[in-house]
Amino acid sequence: MFVCLGNICRSPMAEFAFADMVEKRGLSDKFTIASAATSDEALGCGVHSGTVRKLESVGIKWRQRTAVQLTKSDYDKYDYFIGMDAGNVRAMLRLFGGDPDGKVYKLLDFSDTPRDIADPWYTGNFEATYADIEKGLKGFLESTT
Ligand code: 4NP
Repeated sequence: MFVCLGNICRSPMAEFAFADMVEKRGLSDKFTIASAATSDEALGCGVHSGTVRKLESVGIKWRQRTAVQLTKSDYDKYDYFIGMDAGNVRAMLRLFGGDPDGKVYKLLDFSDTPRDIADPWYTGNFEATYADIEKGLKGFLESTT
């Protein structure tokens, strides 16, 4: 489960990019991939046009979807909750009431640069966000397979 603040920029980008990555490696049946928001700011909104443009420019398939909010009951449904920044991690720990099973991570924890991924909703820089997401996803995939 990929998690960001609004679920229209970063976490859908991660969801679609990871689905593409595992499909190309023949691993699609090993993962259930989803994304959700910590906030209710963009609930019901579609995937951001900046995310769509970036995904299309690198040939990654995407589908239109509307933002959904992470719920406490999601905790038992996934093995990994991968946030984009420290705020996402804090919000998840608050929602879940901790992390008893050690499932909560930040995406770049799976890289050699374990920092936050900037929010393109504010920066407008979907290129930098994609580069970080791709790096984190590769590290995550290597760590799990
Ligand atoms: P995201 O970006 O967390 O990467 O999806 C945002 C999208 C929308 C809002 C905030 C962040 N918003 O406040 O509506």
